[in-house]
Amino acid sequence: MHFFNYKGAELYAEEVPVRALAEKYGTPLYIYSHKTLQRHFDAYDQAYRKFPHIVCYALKANSNGAVLRLLAKRGCGADIVSGGELFRALKAGIPAEKIVYAGVGKTEEEIRNALKAKILMFNVESEDELREIDKVAGKMKTKAPIALRINPDINASTHPYISTGMREHKFGISIDEALENYRLASGLKNIRVIGVQKHIGSQITKIDPFVDALTRILILLDRLNKEKFDIRYLDIGGGLGITYADEKPPVPADIARKLLPLINGRDITLIMEPGRSIVGNAGILVTKVLYLKKGEGKEFVIVDAGMNDLMRPSLYDAYHKIVPVARKKRSMIISDIVGPICESGDFIAKGREIAKVNRGEYLAVMSAGAYGMSMSSNYNSRPFIAEVMVNGKTHSLIRKRGNYEDLVRNEAIPGYLR
Ligand code: LLP
Repeated sequence: MHFFNYKGAELYAEEVPVRALAEKYGTPLYIYSHKTLQRHFDAYDQAYRKFPHIVCYALKANSNGAVLRLLAKRGCGADIVSGGELFRALKAGIPAEKIVYAGVGKTEEEIRNALKAKILMFNVESEDELREIDKVAGKMKTKAPIALRINPDINASTHPYISTGMREHKFGISIDEALENYRLASGLKNIRVIGVQKHIGSQITKIDPFVDALTRILILLDRLNKEKFDIRYLDIGGGLGITYADEKPPVPADIARKLLPLINGRDITLIMEPGRSIVGNAGILVTKVLYLKKGEGKEFVIVDAGMNDLMRPSLYDAYHKIVPVARKKRSMIISDIVGPICESGDFIAKGREIAKVNRGEYLAVMSAGAYGMSMSSNYNSRPFIAEVMVNGKTHSLIRKRGNYEDLVRNEAIPGYLR
């Protein structure tokens, strides 16, 4: 559910016409709906209200400070994967005791900063990393709270680039080696074992993989309890899919209904790490039609947003619905919607049946709130684009459009070239 709908002939973001925003702030432009973000966070929080839990929003999906601040104010925690995300989470007012830290390549400096901040726990992905955290914590004369990220060997049936929970993936520790790694961890002086974590992939649209993965993790948890480990946190990761085209993913309450009976009565706090299902449909990308071009046997709609602004179609062949901002009777055409980047892979849609549009018109690329802006780049020396948040009738710039000076700010010319 989201708040981007047509009212009469115009597409609205909540109570503001998208056209007005495009004219005021320019294009390409990311627009987020405050109400939608709230609703999506609340859907998780409500679904698990009868069980101790923390919703740790996965910053990688969209790390804009205003989005984070909104979530922080509602009691949200954070799932981070870098020092930069730790910085953003703390800056937005997310309390350290609600921050979990995943990722296979944490550096010594990142570990130190997270320990200094006193985050809730590290989700550790390898034996080497465990030893490194132990070493850093030792130097700081503190104890590092950790969970092991366990790879339950579950096929999430999603795109291979975003599936993570199988044996062949780089993530986590194999479930077969989990016990020995827990024993190793408990023997390390500066480590405090407090959790178990799993995450099996992203854009998962069925309930079964979540149930199967949790079932496997609970067997491990029982073994750990038997061995007198004091596991306080069970982190089930993120991964719930959204509707891009005609997918019908479950809502958080559907999943909670299946998962809660499996854990009821256990003395643990449940953690989840949703990203896409919170921000994905809370954002759109608005782009302007620059040119129309007839190619060999097909038509091209050339727009001002490129693969550097929204990488998902190029990288994953991902589908995003594209609709004209002005609704009227139109004939349909089949075309490639492409950006200005000098790459054949620069497209938002290929061979897509869309409403016929004219030069200068605005198009809305739907479901672009997650992994849109956060994966964007400056390729082809294109400055980062602007982001706006709409709340009812009000709209606020939450990221200023970049300029050319930004592109070269950190560069330096060696003396011998001056
Ligand atoms: N927790 C961990 C450990 C993760 O690796 C991820 C996502 C999440 C939580 C959040 O997953 P979500 O709820 O958003 O599915 N760029 C890709 C998606 C990559 C997902 C990476 N990990 C895309 O645009 O589809």
